[in-house]
Amino acid sequence: MKFFIDTANIEEIRQANELGVLAGVTTNPSLVAKEGVSFHERLREITSEVKVGSVSAEVIAEDAAGMIEEGKELAAIAPNITVKVPMTLEGLKAVKAFSDLNIKTNVTLIFNANQALLAARAGATYVSPFLGRLDDIGQDGMTLVATIAEIFDRHDISTEIIAASIRHPLHVTDAAVNGAHIATIPYNVLSSLVKHPLTDQGIEKFMADWNNQK
Ligand code: E4P
Repeated sequence: MKFFIDTANIEEIRQANELGVLAGVTTNPSLVAKEGVSFHERLREITSEVKVGSVSAEVIAEDAAGMIEEGKELAAIAPNITVKVPMTLEGLKAVKAFSDLNIKTNVTLIFNANQALLAARAGATYVSPFLGRLDDIGQDGMTLVATIAEIFDRHDISTEIIAASIRHPLHVTDAAVNGAHIATIPYNVLSSLVKHPLTDQGIEKFMADWNNQK
């Protein structure tokens, strides 16, 4: 499983990129709005920091024609832009059009397996099941990841699964175990993956012993 970062904050992206594990970035309209910056300008900054991995940029239009127009503009910003499209009937039409144009897509707001299968058959590069938001309403987000992974495997579908709406480290481990190809993770969760109290205690003890040697 690969690591994407789920943020539009350029400092978080830079810090995550320095770790050497970053394979891509996802943004959404809420994350961009939080930054109070021009969307296209921020995408230019992100794609000059992350030049190879996928950078998802979401369309705002609600009709297929509008999504296609917007998506083409976004895709022109950099070769590694992936157009993020919401899971709607209009979104599916747009995904098919982008697929015909060889523009990569990430179908977002996936909450059941049929939505994922439809997106894949329309030509989506990625599907993003939202684990945390399902957990929030008492449904099991991780079972959805496992079901989509099984369907894609059984039917030889190459669309990749991005485990999204990740809230804590256990989501990351479980997403990997259940067949997600990618987890897109907020910076606070990504940096917390490094931590274990026994690691900190071990370092402290090694340093104390080193400094107390005779
Ligand atoms: C994924 O692409 C989305 O941007 C994101 O994971 C949504 O997470 P949230 O439910 O924490 O807003």
